[in-house]
Amino acid sequence: MDKDKIITLAIESSCDETSAAVLEGGRKILSNIISTQIPVHQKFGGVVPEIASRKHIINIMPVIDEALRTAGTELSDINQVAVTYGPGLVGALLVGVSAAKALAFSRNIPLIGVNHLEGHIFANFLSSPELVPPFVALVVSGGHTSLVHVKDYNSFSLMGQTRDDAAGEAFDKVARVMGLPYPGGPQIDKLAQEGDPLAIDFPRALQEKGNYEFSFSGLKSAVLNYLNSMKLKKIEVNKADVAASFQHTVIEVLLVKAMAAVKETGCDTLVLAGGVAANSSLEKRLREEATRKNVKFYFPDKILCTDNAAMIGCRGYYQALAGHYSDLYLNAVPGLALEDL
Ligand code: KG4
Ligand code: ZN
Repeated sequence: MDKDKIITLAIESSCDETSAAVLEGGRKILSNIISTQIPVHQKFGGVVPEIASRKHIINIMPVIDEALRTAGTELSDINQVAVTYGPGLVGALLVGVSAAKALAFSRNIPLIGVNHLEGHIFANFLSSPELVPPFVALVVSGGHTSLVHVKDYNSFSLMGQTRDDAAGEAFDKVARVMGLPYPGGPQIDKLAQEGDPLAIDFPRALQEKGNYEFSFSGLKSAVLNYLNSMKLKKIEVNKADVAASFQHTVIEVLLVKAMAAVKETGCDTLVLAGGVAANSSLEKRLREEATRKNVKFYFPDKILCTDNAAMIGCRGYYQALAGHYSDLYLNAVPGLALEDL
């Protein structure tokens, strides 16, 4: 079969988005349906795993149906099924994995278990048809912050990751103490636009040269301490300045390490991935610095930054080309790491 004509149905249910997509070949999106549960979890200030699983169960089949319908395809047109099997919430992952296994079994078509983080990186292939490996990927999501040397479609090496909080998690936690709704990343992003990024000097961790690990829990605590000490002193804080200074600190840490990783690997391309890639200032600063250093810079369309099934389909397609299929014993792996491949 012509590989550009392979039709992949992809499923994503690792956290609070139920998503299904249909792809033709590796990079052409025929549909990408995303049903978000954000409004459901908002009143709890974060994702409630049990509620997420139940919502996925309700949404999964209608979302798959809609993805097939929007793509103008029937189940019988599908050549393979790709599904996120980790990392994520176990109950949430199991819904997608079970649906994918049932479809693969009943249609007798191959099943491809996909690592969610690799999916985030591959979102860039959908947004930028000209992008090819090798490159350095900066993956910044709610659960992960990693620098990955993508040597080829199926060859990666993990250069470093966070020791504690992920960048998105720090955004969400800081937003929460500032009384902003979940998810906090976009709220901080918006508020920061009215603030002074240099107003407060927050600490940056692990700044030694050649260190590609991250740590954001100290920064998060510094913001909390700042807010508490101001409260005790009865000094009114400028929330926009706090948001802008916090965001500036995160961005500068990410930027310095990402550019150093590009230099060390000898790559001429930097790729941004994950939910935090939707941050307008992060994208702008990385672009400025990349242009200054003659490095090509890519980041996904906003809709492909946060969780979606199209990125899982793209990753699954390239895995399948290399013969990396799963069997029907595929299980959810909540702590699945982004490891050297
Ligand atoms: O990749 P994603 O959709 O889910 C995970 O796999 O974790 O990322 C969600 C994370 C959340 O922490 C959210 O606050 C953050 O991405 N986020 C942002 C922005 N939009 C989403 N963080 C900063 N600025 C944004 N504009
Ligand atoms: Zn994600």
